[in-house]
Amino acid sequence: MNVLRQNITNRYRTLGSLPIGVHGRAANTSGSSYGKKFAVRPATHDDFAAVMAIDVNQMYQGRDYLQDCYHRFLDDPNMHAVVATVDEQTAGFGVLHIFDEGESAIKRAFRVHQDFQKLGLMNMMLDDMDETLSEMQPPVKRVTHATTDDNALRYQKRYKQEGYAEIFRKRMLNYSYRGQDIPALSPSELESTKSVRLLTSNDVIHLFSNKTLVDRLFPNRMLFNTFVGFKTVQGNIKYLINSSAVMFMTSQSIPTSSSKDMEAIQTSNAQDQPMQSNEKAIPYMDMLSCGHLHMSEGVPVYEINIYNTPSNISSLNRHMLQHIHMLKKIIREVTSNNGMLMVTFHDDIADKLIIDVLNKYGIHEEIPDCGSELVWFEQELGENIRESPILERLDSSVGILK
Ligand SMILES: CC(C)(COP(=O)(O)OP(=O)(O)OC[C@H]1O[C@@H](n2cnc3c(N)ncnc32)[C@H](O)[C@@H]1OP(=O)(O)O)[C@@H](O)C(=O)NCCC(=O)NCCS
Repeated sequence: MNVLRQNITNRYRTLGSLPIGVHGRAANTSGSSYGKKFAVRPATHDDFAAVMAIDVNQMYQGRDYLQDCYHRFLDDPNMHAVVATVDEQTAGFGVLHIFDEGESAIKRAFRVHQDFQKLGLMNMMLDDMDETLSEMQPPVKRVTHATTDDNALRYQKRYKQEGYAEIFRKRMLNYSYRGQDIPALSPSELESTKSVRLLTSNDVIHLFSNKTLVDRLFPNRMLFNTFVGFKTVQGNIKYLINSSAVMFMTSQSIPTSSSKDMEAIQTSNAQDQPMQSNEKAIPYMDMLSCGHLHMSEGVPVYEINIYNTPSNISSLNRHMLQHIHMLKKIIREVTSNNGMLMVTFHDDIADKLIIDVLNKYGIHEEIPDCGSELVWFEQELGENIRESPILERLDSSVGILK
Protein backbone atom coordinates (compact mmCIF):
# COMPACT_ATOMS: atom_id res chain seq x y z
CA MET A 1 0.00 0.00 0.00
CA ASN A 2 1.39 3.36 -0.94
CA VAL A 3 0.50 5.31 2.14
CA LEU A 4 2.99 8.09 1.72
CA ARG A 5 3.72 9.23 -1.81
CA GLN A 6 0.14 10.06 -2.65
CA ASN A 7 0.05 12.42 0.32
CA ILE A 8 3.09 14.49 -0.40
CA THR A 9 2.35 17.72 -2.13
CA ASN A 10 4.89 19.62 -4.11
CA ARG A 11 5.69 22.06 -1.35
CA TYR A 12 9.47 22.03 -1.27
CA ARG A 13 11.09 25.36 -1.03
CA THR A 14 13.94 27.13 0.63
CA LEU A 15 13.14 27.09 4.29
CA GLY A 16 15.09 30.16 5.21
CA SER A 17 18.50 31.24 6.27
CA LEU A 18 19.84 30.17 9.59
CA PRO A 19 22.31 32.07 11.69
CA ILE A 20 25.55 30.13 11.96
CA GLY A 21 25.98 28.75 15.47
CA VAL A 22 22.37 29.11 16.47
CA HIS A 23 20.36 26.04 17.42
CA GLY A 24 16.71 25.85 16.82
CA ARG A 25 13.87 25.04 14.54
CA ALA A 26 13.88 26.49 11.07
CA ALA A 27 10.41 27.92 11.49
CA ASN A 28 11.70 30.23 14.20
CA THR A 29 14.98 31.19 12.66
CA SER A 30 14.48 32.24 9.10
CA GLY A 31 15.94 35.44 7.74
CA SER A 32 19.47 35.36 9.02
CA SER A 33 21.90 38.09 8.19
CA TYR A 34 24.67 35.54 7.70
CA GLY A 35 23.23 34.80 4.30
CA LYS A 36 23.74 31.02 4.12
CA LYS A 37 20.83 29.44 2.32
CA PHE A 38 19.46 26.34 4.08
CA ALA A 39 16.88 24.13 2.42
CA VAL A 40 15.25 20.72 2.65
CA ARG A 41 14.13 18.84 -0.45
CA PRO A 42 13.30 15.25 -1.42
CA ALA A 43 16.37 13.06 -1.94
CA THR A 44 16.94 11.51 -5.36
CA HIS A 45 18.94 8.53 -6.55
CA ASP A 46 21.41 11.03 -8.03
CA ASP A 47 22.13 12.36 -4.52
CA PHE A 48 23.65 9.01 -3.50
CA ALA A 49 27.31 10.04 -3.78
CA ALA A 50 26.75 13.40 -2.08
CA VAL A 51 24.81 11.75 0.76
CA MET A 52 27.52 9.14 1.21
CA ALA A 53 30.05 11.94 1.37
CA ILE A 54 28.34 13.48 4.42
CA ASP A 55 31.10 13.05 6.94
CA VAL A 56 29.84 12.63 10.49
CA ASN A 57 33.01 11.02 11.80
CA GLN A 58 31.74 7.50 12.11
CA MET A 59 28.08 6.64 11.89
CA TYR A 60 26.60 4.04 14.27
CA GLN A 61 30.08 2.90 15.34
CA GLY A 62 30.84 1.73 11.81
CA ARG A 63 27.56 -0.16 11.36
CA ASP A 64 25.79 2.32 9.09
CA TYR A 65 23.26 0.70 6.77
CA LEU A 66 22.48 3.61 4.44
CA GLN A 67 24.99 2.75 1.72
CA ASP A 68 23.35 -0.65 1.38
CA CYS A 69 19.76 0.56 1.67
CA TYR A 70 19.80 4.00 0.04
CA HIS A 71 18.31 3.07 -3.34
CA ARG A 72 15.89 0.57 -1.78
CA PHE A 73 14.69 3.25 0.63
CA LEU A 74 14.16 5.70 -2.22
CA ASP A 75 12.19 3.11 -4.18
CA ASP A 76 9.99 2.19 -1.23
CA PRO A 77 6.68 4.06 -1.63
CA ASN A 78 6.34 4.12 2.16
CA MET A 79 9.58 5.99 2.65
CA HIS A 80 10.26 9.65 2.04
CA ALA A 81 13.94 10.62 2.10
CA VAL A 82 15.09 14.22 2.31
CA VAL A 83 18.38 16.03 1.99
CA ALA A 84 19.23 19.25 3.76
CA THR A 85 21.35 21.64 1.75
CA VAL A 86 23.49 24.62 2.63
CA ASP A 87 23.95 26.93 -0.33
CA GLU A 88 22.79 24.02 -2.53
CA GLN A 89 25.50 21.77 -1.10
CA THR A 90 24.26 18.48 0.40
CA ALA A 91 24.84 18.66 4.14
CA GLY A 92 22.24 16.41 5.74
CA PHE A 93 19.98 13.45 5.14
CA GLY A 94 17.06 11.71 6.84
CA VAL A 95 14.19 9.33 6.06
CA LEU A 96 10.55 9.35 7.06
CA HIS A 97 9.31 5.78 7.01
CA ILE A 98 5.62 4.88 7.28
CA PHE A 99 5.05 1.31 8.42
CA ASP A 100 2.53 -0.77 10.42
CA GLU A 101 0.22 -0.51 7.37
CA GLY A 102 0.11 3.26 7.58
CA GLU A 103 -0.37 3.54 11.34
CA SER A 104 3.16 4.37 12.47
CA ALA A 105 5.95 6.65 11.34
CA ILE A 106 9.64 6.69 12.18
CA LYS A 107 12.17 9.37 11.30
CA ARG A 108 15.47 7.61 10.80
CA ALA A 109 18.99 7.48 9.34
CA PHE A 110 19.70 11.14 10.15
CA ARG A 111 23.09 12.56 9.54
CA VAL A 112 24.45 16.08 9.19
CA HIS A 113 27.95 16.86 7.94
CA GLN A 114 30.31 17.73 10.81
CA ASP A 115 30.90 21.22 9.44
CA PHE A 116 27.18 22.00 9.62
CA GLN A 117 26.13 20.30 12.84
CA LYS A 118 24.40 22.21 15.63
CA LEU A 119 22.95 24.71 13.19
CA GLY A 120 19.47 23.25 13.26
CA LEU A 121 19.62 21.20 10.07
CA MET A 122 18.27 18.06 11.69
CA ASN A 123 15.48 20.09 13.23
CA MET A 124 14.67 21.48 9.78
CA MET A 125 14.43 17.97 8.36
CA LEU A 126 12.27 16.92 11.32
CA ASP A 127 9.97 19.90 10.76
CA ASP A 128 9.73 19.05 7.11
CA MET A 129 8.75 15.48 7.96
CA ASP A 130 6.16 16.73 10.44
CA GLU A 131 4.67 18.77 7.67
CA THR A 132 4.56 15.72 5.42
CA LEU A 133 2.91 13.77 8.24
CA SER A 134 0.34 16.49 8.81
CA GLU A 135 -0.72 16.18 5.17
CA MET A 136 -1.25 12.44 5.29
CA GLN A 137 -4.72 10.98 4.81
CA PRO A 138 -5.57 8.83 6.63
CA PRO A 139 -3.33 10.27 9.33
CA VAL A 140 -0.71 8.12 11.01
CA LYS A 141 -1.55 7.21 14.59
CA ARG A 142 1.86 7.42 16.17
CA VAL A 143 5.36 8.66 15.62
CA THR A 144 8.05 6.34 16.91
CA HIS A 145 11.71 6.50 17.70
CA ALA A 146 14.42 3.93 18.37
CA THR A 147 17.67 4.61 20.11
CA THR A 148 20.22 3.08 22.43
CA ASP A 149 20.01 3.31 26.23
CA ASP A 150 22.84 5.86 26.44
CA ASN A 151 21.14 8.19 23.94
CA ALA A 152 17.78 7.65 25.65
CA LEU A 153 19.37 8.99 28.81
CA ARG A 154 21.25 11.81 27.10
CA TYR A 155 18.18 13.14 25.27
CA GLN A 156 15.51 12.18 27.79
CA LYS A 157 14.44 15.80 28.33
CA ARG A 158 13.90 16.33 24.62
CA TYR A 159 11.95 13.08 24.18
CA LYS A 160 9.74 13.91 27.14
CA GLN A 161 9.09 17.45 25.89
CA GLU A 162 8.11 16.06 22.51
CA GLY A 163 5.63 13.66 24.10
CA TYR A 164 7.46 10.38 23.52
CA ALA A 165 6.81 7.57 25.98
CA GLU A 166 9.15 4.66 26.36
CA ILE A 167 7.41 1.47 25.31
CA PHE A 168 10.00 -1.24 25.28
CA ARG A 169 13.65 -2.14 25.85
CA LYS A 170 15.70 -5.01 24.58
CA ARG A 171 19.20 -6.22 25.46
CA MET A 172 21.82 -5.73 22.79
CA LEU A 173 25.36 -7.05 22.32
CA ASN A 174 27.72 -5.81 19.64
CA TYR A 175 30.81 -7.76 18.62
CA SER A 176 33.37 -7.62 15.86
CA TYR A 177 34.81 -10.80 14.39
CA ARG A 178 37.51 -12.05 12.07
CA GLY A 179 36.30 -14.64 9.59
CA GLN A 180 39.26 -16.96 10.06
CA ASP A 181 38.58 -17.20 13.81
CA ILE A 182 35.13 -18.73 13.32
CA PRO A 183 35.26 -22.49 12.88
CA ALA A 184 32.84 -24.32 10.60
CA LEU A 185 30.11 -26.23 12.41
CA SER A 186 30.84 -29.88 13.09
CA PRO A 187 28.59 -32.51 11.48
CA SER A 188 26.72 -33.01 14.76
CA GLU A 189 26.26 -29.25 15.22
CA LEU A 190 24.99 -29.01 11.66
CA GLU A 191 22.61 -31.84 12.39
CA SER A 192 21.21 -29.95 15.36
CA THR A 193 20.41 -26.94 13.17
CA LYS A 194 18.17 -29.10 11.00
CA SER A 195 15.30 -28.60 13.42
CA VAL A 196 15.69 -24.83 13.03
CA ARG A 197 13.27 -24.07 10.24
CA LEU A 198 13.35 -21.23 7.78
CA LEU A 199 10.07 -19.32 7.61
CA THR A 200 8.38 -18.10 4.46
CA SER A 201 6.26 -14.97 4.26
CA ASN A 202 3.21 -17.25 4.28
CA ASP A 203 4.40 -18.86 7.51
CA VAL A 204 4.70 -15.41 9.05
CA ILE A 205 1.12 -14.63 8.01
CA HIS A 206 0.08 -17.74 9.98
CA LEU A 207 2.24 -16.73 12.90
CA PHE A 208 0.86 -13.19 13.03
CA SER A 209 -2.72 -14.46 12.93
CA ASN A 210 -2.11 -16.64 16.00
CA LYS A 211 -2.61 -13.94 18.65
CA THR A 212 -1.90 -16.27 21.58
CA LEU A 213 1.49 -17.12 20.16
CA VAL A 214 2.15 -13.53 19.15
CA ASP A 215 1.53 -12.42 22.73
CA ARG A 216 3.89 -15.09 24.03
CA LEU A 217 6.71 -14.25 21.63
CA PHE A 218 6.51 -10.50 21.18
CA PRO A 219 5.99 -8.03 24.03
CA ASN A 220 3.62 -5.33 22.72
CA ARG A 221 2.98 -7.51 19.67
CA MET A 222 6.06 -5.99 18.12
CA LEU A 223 9.29 -7.22 16.57
CA PHE A 224 12.17 -4.88 17.29
CA ASN A 225 14.51 -5.60 14.35
CA THR A 226 16.95 -3.31 12.52
CA PHE A 227 16.18 -0.47 14.97
CA VAL A 228 12.47 -0.47 14.07
CA GLY A 229 9.61 -1.80 16.19
CA PHE A 230 7.37 -3.57 13.67
CA LYS A 231 3.89 -4.53 14.78
CA THR A 232 2.77 -8.03 13.84
CA VAL A 233 0.81 -7.02 10.75
CA GLN A 234 1.08 -8.41 7.23
CA GLY A 235 2.25 -5.12 5.72
CA ASN A 236 5.48 -5.34 7.71
CA ILE A 237 6.48 -8.79 6.49
CA LYS A 238 8.42 -7.34 3.55
CA TYR A 239 10.73 -5.69 6.07
CA LEU A 240 11.19 -8.94 8.01
CA ILE A 241 11.72 -11.38 5.14
CA ASN A 242 13.55 -10.19 2.03
CA SER A 243 16.87 -10.63 0.26
CA SER A 244 18.68 -9.33 3.37
CA ALA A 245 16.45 -10.75 6.10
CA VAL A 246 15.51 -14.28 7.18
CA MET A 247 13.44 -15.74 10.01
CA PHE A 248 13.96 -19.07 11.73
CA MET A 249 11.80 -20.98 14.17
CA THR A 250 11.98 -23.97 16.44
CA SER A 251 9.01 -25.69 17.97
CA GLN A 252 8.42 -27.78 21.03
CA SER A 253 7.49 -31.41 20.55
CA ILE A 254 4.42 -31.58 18.40
CA PRO A 255 1.60 -34.00 19.27
CA THR A 256 2.13 -36.98 17.00
CA SER A 257 -1.46 -37.47 15.97
CA SER A 258 -0.44 -37.79 12.38
CA SER A 259 2.91 -39.25 11.45
CA LYS A 260 2.47 -37.83 7.96
CA ASP A 261 2.24 -34.33 9.38
CA MET A 262 5.38 -34.91 11.39
CA GLU A 263 7.24 -36.06 8.32
CA ALA A 264 6.24 -32.92 6.46
CA ILE A 265 7.34 -30.76 9.38
CA GLN A 266 10.62 -32.51 9.96
CA THR A 267 11.73 -32.15 6.36
CA SER A 268 11.03 -28.42 6.37
CA ASN A 269 14.39 -27.33 7.64
CA ALA A 270 16.71 -24.56 6.62
CA GLN A 271 18.86 -26.76 4.42
CA ASP A 272 16.04 -28.34 2.40
CA GLN A 273 14.76 -26.46 -0.62
CA PRO A 274 12.06 -26.01 -1.69
CA MET A 275 10.54 -25.54 1.76
CA GLN A 276 7.43 -27.28 2.86
CA SER A 277 4.91 -25.38 4.87
CA ASN A 278 5.67 -24.94 8.55
CA GLU A 279 2.03 -24.21 9.22
CA LYS A 280 1.47 -27.18 11.50
CA ALA A 281 4.54 -26.53 13.59
CA ILE A 282 3.85 -22.84 14.06
CA PRO A 283 1.39 -23.15 16.98
CA TYR A 284 4.12 -25.04 18.88
CA MET A 285 6.83 -22.48 18.23
CA ASP A 286 9.08 -21.90 21.24
CA MET A 287 11.61 -19.54 19.70
CA LEU A 288 11.92 -17.33 16.67
CA SER A 289 15.11 -15.68 15.50
CA CYS A 290 15.68 -13.21 12.71
CA GLY A 291 18.88 -12.66 10.78
CA HIS A 292 19.59 -9.47 8.88
CA LEU A 293 22.64 -8.60 6.81
CA HIS A 294 23.80 -5.27 5.53
CA MET A 295 27.15 -4.08 4.28
CA SER A 296 28.78 -1.06 5.83
CA GLU A 297 31.69 0.25 3.78
CA GLY A 298 32.37 -3.23 2.47
CA VAL A 299 32.15 -4.82 5.92
CA PRO A 300 29.26 -7.19 6.65
CA VAL A 301 27.10 -6.34 9.63
CA TYR A 302 24.92 -9.26 10.70
CA GLU A 303 22.10 -8.79 13.16
CA ILE A 304 20.45 -11.60 15.14
CA ASN A 305 17.16 -10.82 16.89
CA ILE A 306 15.89 -13.50 19.24
CA TYR A 307 12.30 -13.91 20.46
CA ASN A 308 11.55 -16.61 22.99
CA THR A 309 8.33 -17.69 24.62
CA PRO A 310 8.41 -16.80 28.34
CA SER A 311 11.30 -18.42 30.20
CA ASN A 312 11.76 -20.94 27.40
CA ILE A 313 15.30 -20.86 26.10
CA SER A 314 15.92 -24.52 25.45
CA SER A 315 16.29 -23.87 21.71
CA LEU A 316 18.69 -20.93 22.07
CA ASN A 317 21.79 -22.92 21.23
CA ARG A 318 20.34 -24.33 18.05
CA HIS A 319 19.26 -20.88 16.87
CA MET A 320 22.67 -19.42 17.62
CA LEU A 321 24.33 -22.27 15.74
CA GLN A 322 22.06 -21.64 12.76
CA HIS A 323 23.16 -18.00 12.72
CA ILE A 324 26.84 -18.90 13.12
CA HIS A 325 26.31 -21.14 10.11
CA MET A 326 24.81 -18.17 8.23
CA LEU A 327 27.78 -16.07 9.27
CA LYS A 328 30.20 -18.65 7.86
CA LYS A 329 28.30 -18.50 4.56
CA ILE A 330 28.49 -14.70 4.58
CA ILE A 331 32.22 -14.82 5.28
CA ARG A 332 32.69 -17.15 2.30
CA GLU A 333 30.68 -14.87 0.02
CA VAL A 334 32.00 -11.41 0.84
CA THR A 335 35.51 -10.15 0.32
CA SER A 336 35.94 -8.73 3.80
CA ASN A 337 37.34 -11.04 6.41
CA ASN A 338 36.20 -8.78 9.23
CA GLY A 339 32.64 -8.17 10.24
CA MET A 340 30.32 -7.05 12.98
CA LEU A 341 27.61 -8.89 14.77
CA MET A 342 24.73 -7.52 16.79
CA VAL A 343 22.51 -9.74 18.93
CA THR A 344 19.29 -8.53 20.54
CA PHE A 345 17.13 -10.49 22.97
CA HIS A 346 14.65 -10.23 25.81
CA ASP A 347 15.99 -9.82 29.30
CA ASP A 348 14.94 -13.30 30.42
CA ILE A 349 17.94 -14.58 28.46
CA ALA A 350 21.15 -14.04 30.43
CA ASP A 351 23.89 -12.28 28.43
CA LYS A 352 26.28 -15.04 29.39
CA LEU A 353 24.33 -17.63 27.42
CA ILE A 354 24.80 -15.63 24.23
CA ILE A 355 28.35 -14.55 24.98
CA ASP A 356 29.43 -18.14 25.71
CA VAL A 357 28.26 -19.23 22.27
CA LEU A 358 29.94 -16.27 20.58
CA ASN A 359 33.19 -16.93 22.43
CA LYS A 360 33.07 -20.63 21.60
CA TYR A 361 32.90 -19.68 17.92
CA GLY A 362 35.81 -17.27 18.02
CA ILE A 363 33.83 -14.05 18.48
CA HIS A 364 35.39 -12.26 21.45
CA GLU A 365 35.72 -8.59 20.74
CA GLU A 366 32.93 -6.41 22.05
CA ILE A 367 32.53 -3.11 20.15
CA PRO A 368 32.73 -0.21 22.62
CA ASP A 369 30.24 2.68 22.90
CA CYS A 370 27.31 0.93 21.26
CA GLY A 371 25.08 0.98 24.33
CA SER A 372 23.69 -2.15 25.92
CA GLU A 373 19.99 -1.79 25.23
CA LEU A 374 17.72 -0.76 22.39
CA VAL A 375 14.90 1.54 23.46
CA TRP A 376 11.62 2.06 21.63
CA PHE A 377 9.58 5.24 22.04
CA GLU A 378 6.15 6.10 20.77
CA GLN A 379 4.20 9.30 20.60
CA GLU A 380 0.47 8.78 20.07
CA LEU A 381 -1.02 11.39 17.79
CA GLY A 382 -4.32 13.16 18.27
CA GLU A 383 -7.74 11.72 18.55
CA ASN A 384 -7.13 8.57 16.59
CA ILE A 385 -5.85 6.64 19.56
CA ARG A 386 -7.38 3.21 19.52
CA GLU A 387 -7.44 0.52 22.14
CA SER A 388 -4.34 -1.59 21.83
CA PRO A 389 -1.84 -3.51 23.92
CA ILE A 390 0.48 -0.52 23.46
CA LEU A 391 -1.83 1.71 25.46
CA GLU A 392 -2.19 -0.82 28.25
CA ARG A 393 1.57 -1.04 28.29
CA LEU A 394 1.98 2.72 28.41
CA ASP A 395 0.10 2.87 31.69
CA SER A 396 2.28 0.30 33.33
CA SER A 397 5.52 1.37 31.69
CA VAL A 398 8.37 2.02 34.08
CA GLY A 399 10.46 3.70 31.40
CA ILE A 400 12.97 6.35 32.28
CA LEU A 401 10.78 9.08 30.90
CA LYS A 402 8.02 8.45 33.40
C1 LIG B 1 22.36 13.82 15.21
C2 LIG B 1 22.64 14.85 14.13
C3 LIG B 1 21.97 14.38 12.83
C4 LIG B 1 22.06 16.19 14.57
O1 LIG B 1 22.16 17.09 13.50
P1 LIG B 1 22.25 18.66 13.73
O2 LIG B 1 21.87 19.35 12.48
O3 LIG B 1 23.54 18.99 14.33
O4 LIG B 1 21.09 18.86 14.81
P2 LIG B 1 20.34 20.21 15.11
O5 LIG B 1 21.32 21.34 15.14
O6 LIG B 1 19.15 20.37 14.21
O7 LIG B 1 19.84 19.92 16.56
C5 LIG B 1 19.04 18.84 16.77
C6 LIG B 1 18.62 18.75 18.17
O8 LIG B 1 18.57 17.33 18.42
C7 LIG B 1 19.42 17.01 19.49
N1 LIG B 1 20.04 15.75 19.13
C8 LIG B 1 21.24 15.52 18.58
N2 LIG B 1 21.44 14.20 18.44
C9 LIG B 1 20.32 13.59 18.87
C10 LIG B 1 19.91 12.25 18.98
N3 LIG B 1 20.68 11.22 18.60
N4 LIG B 1 18.68 11.99 19.50
C11 LIG B 1 17.89 13.00 19.89
N5 LIG B 1 18.20 14.29 19.80
C12 LIG B 1 19.42 14.58 19.31
C13 LIG B 1 20.39 18.16 19.60
O9 LIG B 1 20.83 18.24 20.94
C14 LIG B 1 19.54 19.33 19.21
O10 LIG B 1 18.72 19.74 20.29
P3 LIG B 1 18.15 21.26 20.41
O11 LIG B 1 17.19 21.45 19.27
O12 LIG B 1 17.48 21.27 21.73
O13 LIG B 1 19.35 22.13 20.31
C15 LIG B 1 24.17 15.06 13.89
O14 LIG B 1 24.77 15.39 15.10
C16 LIG B 1 24.84 13.82 13.32
O15 LIG B 1 24.93 13.67 12.11
N6 LIG B 1 25.34 12.93 14.20
C17 LIG B 1 25.96 11.70 13.79
C18 LIG B 1 24.96 10.72 13.22
C19 LIG B 1 23.88 10.35 14.22
O16 LIG B 1 24.13 10.08 15.39
N7 LIG B 1 22.63 10.33 13.73
C20 LIG B 1 21.48 10.04 14.56
C21 LIG B 1 20.93 8.77 14.13
S1 LIG B 1 19.17 8.85 13.87
